[in-house]
Amino acid sequence: MGFHFVPLLLTLLLFSTLPTKSSSQTFKCSSPSTCRSLIDYISPNTTTLSHIKTLFSIKNVRSILGANNLPLSTLPNFTIPAKQPIKIPFTCLCINNTGLSNKQPIYTVQKDDGLYHIAAEVFSGLVTYQEIAAVNNVTDVNLIEVGQELWIPLPCSCDDVDGVKVVHYGHVVEAGSSLEFIAQEYGTSRNTLMKLNGIANGSSLLAGQVLDVPLQACNSSVRIDSLDSPFLVPNNTYFFTANNCVKCKCDAANNWTLQCEPSGKKPSSWSACPAMQCEGGLLTIGNTTTSGCNTTTCAYAGFSGDQNIFTALATQSTCPVTTAPGGSPGNFASRIGLSRNYLFICIHMILLLVYLL
Ligand SMILES: *[C@@H]1O[C@H](CO)[C@@H](O)[C@H](O)[C@H]1NC(C)=O
Ligand SMILES: *[C@@H]1O[C@H](CO)[C@@H](O)[C@H](O)[C@H]1NC(C)=O
Ligand SMILES: *[C@@H]1O[C@H](CO)[C@@H](O)[C@H](O)[C@H]1NC(C)=O
Ligand SMILES: *[C@@H]1O[C@H](CO)[C@@H](O)[C@H](O)[C@H]1NC(C)=O
Ligand SMILES: *[C@@H]1O[C@H](CO)[C@@H](O)[C@H](O)[C@H]1NC(C)=O
Ligand SMILES: *[C@@H]1O[C@H](CO)[C@@H](O)[C@H](O)[C@H]1NC(C)=O
Ligand SMILES: *[C@@H]1O[C@H](CO)[C@@H](O)[C@H](O)[C@H]1NC(C)=O
Ligand SMILES: *[C@@H]1O[C@H](CO)[C@@H](O)[C@H](O)[C@H]1NC(C)=O
Ligand SMILES: *[C@@H]1O[C@H](CO)[C@@H](O)[C@H](O)[C@H]1NC(C)=O
Ligand SMILES: *[C@@H]1O[C@H](CO)[C@@H](O)[C@H](O)[C@H]1NC(C)=O
Repeated sequence: MGFHFVPLLLTLLLFSTLPTKSSSQTFKCSSPSTCRSLIDYISPNTTTLSHIKTLFSIKNVRSILGANNLPLSTLPNFTIPAKQPIKIPFTCLCINNTGLSNKQPIYTVQKDDGLYHIAAEVFSGLVTYQEIAAVNNVTDVNLIEVGQELWIPLPCSCDDVDGVKVVHYGHVVEAGSSLEFIAQEYGTSRNTLMKLNGIANGSSLLAGQVLDVPLQACNSSVRIDSLDSPFLVPNNTYFFTANNCVKCKCDAANNWTLQCEPSGKKPSSWSACPAMQCEGGLLTIGNTTTSGCNTTTCAYAGFSGDQNIFTALATQSTCPVTTAPGGSPGNFASRIGLSRNYLFICIHMILLLVYLL
């Protein structure tokens, strides 16, 4: 018995001296689900979109363009300067109270690669080598083989933040940045960032740290029974959905209303894109008509497996509220506005008549 004791003790010592997981890079994710997520990649060298596509096992360069709001005409050989962050889109999977990229990206071990090099250099520190070892059941971190395929578990989350569905973005902190600055740039607050990332008051950010930043998404008309529900497109990005048939973009400046249109692309798994007309058949997704003070848009409302794209008419009204006694000061003001306009038009009509006569 005593003779087994020493090796066991040694093993325990060895294991306990291994650095533990970097806590800053563990995102909490309590709801077991999958969702779309983003993370920054900062290449140490000049690189291209097609190289990034391969490195992160991304199917289509279009999704990188959309995540970074780059023009759709950008070629795959487009170069990205060293040290410039680029947002990587991926699917997040929540398990064991944390979020990890869902079995992707897959990295194939090259000659002379070590786990540390892969984690710290190839993937620029977005994961630690211990995290790669853990999810791939690598028991000896010094023993990986050329050609071996490794799942790189990028941190992410699918949780709501303050009861709102958001897109979690793994923002790599730049030197000299601050919580206030990051909060302002991405439309959130310092307190939300602190709570989400477990940052104590007074502690400072580290350059290179991956911060969980919740991004607000545009409002959409997408139905809950749609295959892409919940459809979350964050500010300043675009995304292809419904088997590539529909392109949707979000711009906060447009009142957080999702804007979709037929993509004009070949569908990925249907023979052709179906009709995308709203009831009545006059409007196609993205078309708008104005009637008086109402603006009606034919909006994208989701898709189903049987080659159907749903639409919905969404009306935005700027009509003055004609109300009754006891109306709010706002209504009062708009009524005055209306009567002034009315008076103005009447005077002009009269002047026009006088002129014509
Ligand atoms: C990128 O590819 C296009 C055509 O495929 C070519 O015309 C262009 O010169 C290339 N640009 C660079 C920077 O390699
Ligand atoms: C999740 O936790 C269970 C129990 O703690 C463990 O057996 C399992 O391997 C964990 N899964 C992952 C992917 O870490
Ligand atoms: C970056 O470039 C340097 C020298 O040009 C090279 O040694 C290194 O392997 C490159 N790193 C990556 C990740 O390609
Ligand atoms: C690691 O081992 C666990 C349990 O033995 C297994 O469920 C899991 O699929 C393995 N993961 C990989 C990547 O081989
Ligand atoms: C939305 O994105 C634009 C363009 O990057 C940016 O100027 C604006 O501050 C963002 N708004 C919010 C609320 O995040
Ligand atoms: C941090 O401290 C400031 C004032 O020093 C306080 O207003 C704020 O609520 C604190 N935030 C947290 C998360 O404790
Ligand atoms: C649209 O989004 C904004 C901001 O998230 C929210 O205040 C508003 O209620 C939403 N409008 C609709 C119609 O959902
Ligand atoms: C945004 O909403 C406000 C109030 O609801 C409205 O006055 C404004 O015209 C809208 N802007 C756009 C671009 O739709
Ligand atoms: C409706 O949208 C289609 C495709 O986006 C466009 O070609 C067409 O001109 C639009 N029609 C109207 C009436 O706006
Ligand atoms: C605008 O829409 C409202 C209801 O959505 C409707 O009652 C009103 O008659 C419409 N006005 C015009 C000019 O179409």
